[in-house]
Order: sequence, then C-alpha cells, then structure tokens
Amino acid sequence: MAAQFAGQPILILKEGTSRATGRDAQHASIAAARIVAESVKSSLGPKGMDKMLVDGFGDVTITNDGATILDEMEVQHPSAKMLVEVAKTQDDEVGDGTTTVVVLTGELLGKAEQLLDKDVHPMIVVDGYKLAAEKALEILEDVAIKVDPMDKSMLKKVASIALATKMLSEYADEVSDFVVRAVLEVAEKDAEGYKVDIDNIKVEKKPGESISDTRLIQGVLLDKEVVHPGMPKRVENAKIVLLNCPLEVEKTEFDAKLNIKNPDQMKAFLDEEGKMLRDMVDKIASAGANVAICEKGIDDVAQHFLAKKGVLTVRRVKQSDMEKLVKATGAHVVTNLEDLGSKDLGSAQLVEERKVGDDKMTFVEGCKNPKAVTVLVRGGTERIVDEAERAVHDALCVVRDVVVNPKVVAGGGAPEAEVAKRLRAYADKFSGREQLAIQAFAEALESIPMALAENAGMDPIDTQVELRTKHGQGVIWAGVDPFKGKVADMAKQNVYEPLAVKIQLVQSASEAAGMILKIDDVIAASKKEMKGPPKGPEESGEEAGEY
Ligand SMILES: Nc1ncnc2c1ncn2[C@@H]1O[C@H](COP(=O)(O)OP(=O)(O)OP(=O)(O)O)[C@@H](O)[C@H]1O
Ligand SMILES: [Mg+2]
Repeated sequence: MAAQFAGQPILILKEGTSRATGRDAQHASIAAARIVAESVKSSLGPKGMDKMLVDGFGDVTITNDGATILDEMEVQHPSAKMLVEVAKTQDDEVGDGTTTVVVLTGELLGKAEQLLDKDVHPMIVVDGYKLAAEKALEILEDVAIKVDPMDKSMLKKVASIALATKMLSEYADEVSDFVVRAVLEVAEKDAEGYKVDIDNIKVEKKPGESISDTRLIQGVLLDKEVVHPGMPKRVENAKIVLLNCPLEVEKTEFDAKLNIKNPDQMKAFLDEEGKMLRDMVDKIASAGANVAICEKGIDDVAQHFLAKKGVLTVRRVKQSDMEKLVKATGAHVVTNLEDLGSKDLGSAQLVEERKVGDDKMTFVEGCKNPKAVTVLVRGGTERIVDEAERAVHDALCVVRDVVVNPKVVAGGGAPEAEVAKRLRAYADKFSGREQLAIQAFAEALESIPMALAENAGMDPIDTQVELRTKHGQGVIWAGVDPFKGKVADMAKQNVYEPLAVKIQLVQSASEAAGMILKIDDVIAASKKEMKGPPKGPEESGEEAGEY
C-alpha cells in the first residue's frame, strides 16, 4: 500500500495488504459482529431452535449451545472472531449464557451504530457503555437473591433451567438430581465459602439406551476394559496400585546384536525376560494390590502373570483419569516399581468391568474420599449424547457457580429488563451525549427478553411494552415465559439462574463491544501460500520462521 508524500508514493505496508479506515472500518467490523450475533439469536431460550453444522470432513453437529455453534462456524472476519472469543470466555468462566453474551454484544454494537450515524463520537459511546456496565453490575448485585449454597432444591432448579434449554427438557428433573449430587460431592469448604473444581467431575458419554439412563458414579469410570480374560472382572475391597511405568521389558536405545549359538541360550534369554516381568508382577502382588491401573502398556506375558495372581488390570488409562483416581482412591502414582510399598495403594469398595452399550468399561466405585465422581451420559444416538453432554456441562457449571457464589436471579430476561429500567433512570443524571449511550445500553439489554419472546412466537414489541409496564409497577422478576407465551413473574415460575452468569455477561459483552467500537483501522496482511517446507535460517539467510 502507498501514501503520497510531496508527490512521492511511499510504501509502508507489504504488497497485497488490505486496509480499511475510519467509518468504513467501523461499519465493516460492526456488521460482521452483528451477523454472527444474528445467526445465534434464534437458538436463545427454551424455545430456541437448534443448528445443524457440517464441518469440512462432513461431520455433523446438532446443537443449541452458543459457544459450540460459533466454534464450529469457523468465522473468518477478525471482529466476528472476537465474538467467538467472547462466547468462549463466557463458557470458560461460568459455563452458561454463551448465546446471550453474543446476542447482547451484537445488540450493543447495533445500538452504537445508530449513535455513530448521528455523529456521536465512538469514544463517547464507549465511555457511556462503560458507565452503564458498571451501574448494571451494581444493580444486579442489588436485585440478586441470596441463597444457601447447600440448598439442594434451589440448585436443582438452577440446573434444570440450564438443561431444559438444550435437548434434555423432558429429563431435566432426573438429570439435574445427578448434576447437583455430583457438584456437592466434589465441593470443598474453606474459610471463605465453597470451592468446586469442575475438573473433578468426569463426564463420560456412551451412545445407547436413553437419556433417562444417565447415571452418577461415585468414583471414576474408565473407558477401558480389563486386559486379560483370565483376570477377575469384579474385585470387592479393592487395593489399587496406580502405575505410571510400563510393565514391559524396556527396549534398548541402541541396536545390539546378540549371538545365540544354541537353543539353550535362546531359552535362557527368554526366561530372563519372563523373569523380569514376573518380578514386576510379584512386586505388585506382594505390596497387596488386587487391582492395577496403568497409564502405559502391559506386556502379554506380564498380563498372564497378573491374571495368575488374580489382579484385575487395566492399561493405557488417560492421565486425566489417573489424576482423578489419585483423588478418589488415595493412591500414589508409582513411577518405579522398586519403590512400591503398601502405603502407595489406594482403596475402593468395588472395581468392576461392566458392559455399557457395545463397550466394556471399568467402574471404580465406593471410594473412601469420593472427591472425584463421574456422570455417565446415555442417549439414543451419538448426536443426542453429544448435545446431552454439553447440557450436562452447562448444568454442572451453573450449579458450581451458585455453590461458589450463592446468589441467583430469576431468568426469562427479567434481570435484563429490570437493569434496563434502572439504567434509564440512571441515564437521566447525565446531560451530555453519554446519556444516549447509557440509554442505548439499556435498550440492548432489553433485546434479550425480546429475543426470547420472538423465539417463542410472541410479539417482541408487545412484550417489550408489557415488560416495561410490569417493571414500572415494581414486579422485579417480570420476564418472558416462552412456554405459556406471556409475560410472567419468573421467580414464581421457579426459573432461576446464577448471578455469576449475568455478571460475566455484562462484563464480557460491554468490553467486547467497546473494543470493536474503538477500531477505526483494519490492516490485513494478504494470506501467504506456503510452498514446500520452510527453509532453515542458514539456507535463507533469515531468522527462522520468517517465511
Ligand atoms: N423455563 C424458562 N422460562 C423462561 N426463560 C427461560 C427458561 N429456561 C431458560 N430461559 C431463559 O433462556 C435464556 C438462556 O437460553 P440458552 O440456554 O438457550 O442460552 P444461553 O444460556 O445464553 O447459552 P448457552 O446455553 O448456549 O451457553 C436465559 O435468558 C434464561 O433465563
Ligand atoms: Mg443456557
């Protein structure tokens, strides 16, 4: 690209670079982000539609989950990519509200664009949005309902709302029970309250049966079978050894030649190998283990010896599962068999191989300290199980959110409508153009209940008017009931969501919108086609990586 200086073109960017500046850049960034937001809007809420996404390999995903839709869409535009990141952050931080955050960011940008068209400077809009977001957080804290973090019935309500927006509506009651039990099982109390590490809850999925056959396992479920048919398939009062070393004779690192002159020598050689493996197995057995779980491989001969000793053995277990087993069984991971002693063993009431669907899985149950549990998700087909797993993930996250920060708000767009009302009153305190930006923020928030209404076949404008009236009359939790198709008090309908989800929503959406609004220059390098392998630095005479 070139600029003119004293009649001379000056090249400052590489050839092929494209650049958009000023209003053009702003317009394009906003438009791209809004298109993304528009595309997920119809999947918001319990009456939202699902999307079918087909990737480059022809794999099909059917989902209603905002973060998953955007992830699969593989958007290209840089500001559209920012919306994908917003959804991802929402998912990582609080686990739910990913569709809402994208819709809200899109609406914030839409309202901002109207102001820009009226010649309001983007920085004024950004500042106004910042003020509005801070106030919105204050209002949310103010209206939130404090709950008891161990109140199972409240936690169940929160879980079933998160489940019901995905495929699980019919099973929300049953599945929410498992979800709440799982989270409470791994919750740890400390001076400031509860801590929940969601990674201690394993979600394992297997197609087959029905979603109602989803189960909670008080322990760890390994998607592996027992290695040898001669081993026991069920061990009660299991003494478990966790191994991080292969039960194999190590191969030498360099090639060695062995001259064998007669069959006796061959036999001696093989015997020696067998003896080494037998020694390994003896060490395991003499430590008192009757179950061995190994992260690495196990030689056939070692399997044979283990079977003879009656040790139930599982191999090639994932590292993440090993970590969960450490927590659940109290065993130490053994990296060198020489060090193995009875103190390293963990325990469980039962270790058993069972058939689940077409596969065999190993259940480690009844652990002393079940700080690790597993939810086994079942469902008719692979795609149903996939979506059920996402729903369970969302539900686990929202229950965790409430246990960690025990405050809830009602759903159905009620908190958004209430915050909008109070923001409008707040906006009146400002005399300048910031007032317009704060009002625009309020309107953007109202688009959430309006979208819920639209997806439920209600008239969005009528709904907005009714919501404003109800909130004006002091009904804080007036929101959209998509099932009955009317405005109702959502607290009375038992529709609750974690406050944490709404806080994250306001923070992420306002930050992302602000960031996109501040863009007035998009400089995009042309995509380079890589031909052949890159040259090494000494060949090209350049720094490595600059190809
Ligand atoms: N039974 C219900 N009645 C009214 N509103 C509901 C009900 N269930 C859910 N909602 C509302 O639906 C919205 C959530 O919809 P949805 O779960 O589709 O999107 P999300 O949570 O933003 O994104 P995702 O779940 O994909 O991460 C929330 O505003 C919630 O209050
Ligand atoms: Mg949701």
